[in-house]
Amino acid sequence: MKTIILYYSNHHGNTKKLVDAIQASDPENVEILDVTTAGPKDLSGYDLIGVASGIYAGNFGKPLLNYMSENLPAGKKVFILFTSAMNRASLSSSAKKVIEEKKCQAVGQYSCPGYNTFGPFKLIGGTAKGHPTKEELDAAVEFYKGL
Ligand SMILES: Cc1cc2nc3c(=O)[nH]c(=O)nc-3n(C[C@H](O)[C@H](O)[C@H](O)COP(=O)(O)O)c2cc1C
Repeated sequence: MKTIILYYSNHHGNTKKLVDAIQASDPENVEILDVTTAGPKDLSGYDLIGVASGIYAGNFGKPLLNYMSENLPAGKKVFILFTSAMNRASLSSSAKKVIEEKKCQAVGQYSCPGYNTFGPFKLIGGTAKGHPTKEELDAAVEFYKGL
């Protein structure tokens, strides 16, 4: 299945670790794209599109949401990946909203905790230190294989 994962991973590269693990598991079929450096791209030739981000103030990264709005073709199957301090399933709502607006289909999501040193958390050495773990990266790959 020809797949591309659009990602934004600005804080510690936590989410990029999920993206890299999935790409490494199927390098022939999985491409990855950093939305901070990519220009507009025709995504119509992909069977599956992943959107991956850290969570910043409750939302997916704005650069990813904007890229999705501008480039997601209607009718595509889209899967969601994210890392966050809280790891709540509802933290993907901003991405789901764009997926819906673009008349695409959300086909699943995987999330796990990600090391966080935002604001005052830095003073206590951060939260979710060591995440994503090897087990969480393996679980992300299993999630992808199950799609
Ligand atoms: C500016 C900022 C805001 C954040 N806001 C939230 C938040 O609202 N909820 C949460 O669970 N984590 C929050 N976090 C923690 C990040 O989502 C977490 O560290 C994530 O793994 C970062 O992913 P990245 O390294 O791929 O950017 C925030 C981090 C930063 C830097």
